[in-house]
Amino acid sequence: MSVVIPLPDISYAGGLDLKSAIYERYSVRRYERRPIALNAVANFLWSAQGYIRSGKRAVPSAGATYPLQILLAVAENGVEGLSSGLYQYSHHYDADRHSLELLHDQSVIAEVAEACFGQSCVKDAMALIAVAADNSKTAKRYGERAERYVAMEAGHVGQNVSLMAVSLGLGAVMVGAFKDDELARALRLPEGLRPYYVIPIGYPYSE
Ligand SMILES: Cc1cc2nc3c(=O)[nH]c(=O)nc-3n(C[C@H](O)[C@H](O)[C@H](O)COP(=O)(O)O)c2cc1C
Repeated sequence: MSVVIPLPDISYAGGLDLKSAIYERYSVRRYERRPIALNAVANFLWSAQGYIRSGKRAVPSAGATYPLQILLAVAENGVEGLSSGLYQYSHHYDADRHSLELLHDQSVIAEVAEACFGQSCVKDAMALIAVAADNSKTAKRYGERAERYVAMEAGHVGQNVSLMAVSLGLGAVMVGAFKDDELARALRLPEGLRPYYVIPIGYPYSE
């Protein structure tokens, strides 16, 4: 039976204003060994693919085909109240409920880091968000153009997540340098899903 973990509700108010968040953003590659608050993780995931007032998602999608899937990999003691492992994010619009489904009950972060050429920002992440896509959803409507559209959509997720990080006092870095097949294996992606982004997150390390 699958393990489903409900996430805290999102408060749509508060946080740093947008202009300040844009101004303050930078790639954060070193993190404090402090677990990320579950509430912050809920905000990150919502900004990546949650529902908004219009009934659509927090990021635009070509023809509303929504090919993206969001995964969360958690290190040992990486997130308050979550065991280390690999999770899939889902948001049910009808009930305004969002949750994580456990896919794998051991940390995959070392494997993901290997697939990302051993980058230390991935290896040392307290948690990371991975963006994967089923291009066929977009290709049904847009054919070869889908390749480009899906990459553009992943970029929207990356930007929302980076600005959300600043807004919450956390840091993130976009990682695009990885071996596709190896990363797909590390993320336990089923046939048909391809990885697009790895986004390590954590509280910025200060000397
Ligand atoms: C598509 C893309 C891929 C990237 N891949 C990596 C990566 O694999 N590793 C890394 O450390 N940074 C990566 N970055 C972050 C860039 O190095 C960083 O954004 C750039 O140096 C500018 O610095 P800033 O983000 O602090 O403004 C990537 C950024 C983008 C947009």
